[in-house]
Amino acid sequence: MNTKQKVVLIGLSGCSSTGKTTIAKLTAELVNQSTLIHEDDFYKHDDEVPIDPKRNIANWDSPEALDFPLFRKELGHIRESGDIKTELIHNNNVDDLKKFKIKPEILENLKQNYSAIDSNLKIVIVDGFMMFNDPEVRSKLDIKILIRAPYEQLKQRRAARLGYQTLDSFWVDPPYYFDEFVYKSYAETHGPLFINNDVEGHLDPVKASDIQDFMNSDEVAIEQTLQWVCNIIVNSCKDL
Ligand SMILES: Nc1ncnc2c1ncn2[C@@H]1O[C@H](COP(=O)(O)OP(=O)(O)OP(=O)(O)O)[C@@H](O)[C@H]1O
Ligand SMILES: [Mg+2]
Repeated sequence: MNTKQKVVLIGLSGCSSTGKTTIAKLTAELVNQSTLIHEDDFYKHDDEVPIDPKRNIANWDSPEALDFPLFRKELGHIRESGDIKTELIHNNNVDDLKKFKIKPEILENLKQNYSAIDSNLKIVIVDGFMMFNDPEVRSKLDIKILIRAPYEQLKQRRAARLGYQTLDSFWVDPPYYFDEFVYKSYAETHGPLFINNDVEGHLDPVKASDIQDFMNSDEVAIEQTLQWVCNIIVNSCKDL
């Protein structure tokens, strides 16, 4: 990194299946000076993931399933040095992006909008489902975006997925997994950011004053979401 360059860490967070990785990948392709990394790379090995005592299965959605000390340290290192380990830069689990059939002129237009970002800023997009609940991770992110979608749609999107590649195996959700693990953990860890702890309601303007949210529901074209994210990033970068 040259001495003039400043690192900007952008956290794209939200419950599983809100569309984070989809949005993060498309956005990273549109921003010239950007790199995309994934919190999923900080998952522990299968045999270190906590076992849920009631169901006797791995709880991939508990904070203890991730190596948070390492994640915090790595984000700190990236912030200070701009140096990102090559193993953190790779293609991550995501559905076929081509299914959205985004018109090339729309992508071109977004690229144009992103070109307004000062070239001395090195943009790092961090895609992760559990970031704003951790004070240290949160404090390291310059821009915080929470992607949302209604509960029923999240459940359907998640059910439509085959499963997840873990470090050591391939995880397939049992039928109860979304309600009892994914959404339950999201509500527990993210509830405090919302008014009355209601994760289907509004963000608390005081407790979540540093976070901006967007409803990426099935009724919202992905182009709209990309445009909203673009406006947030371009405008926030002006103030950095
Ligand atoms: N606006 C949208 N309308 C309809 N489907 C969408 C929209 N955005 C994303 N999706 C779909 O939702 C599914 C989940 O998307 P994605 O994998 O990006 O979610 P994620 O938030 O990264 O989930 P996870 O945390 O489990 O990795 C994908 O099938 C994706 O194509
Ligand atoms: Mg993802």
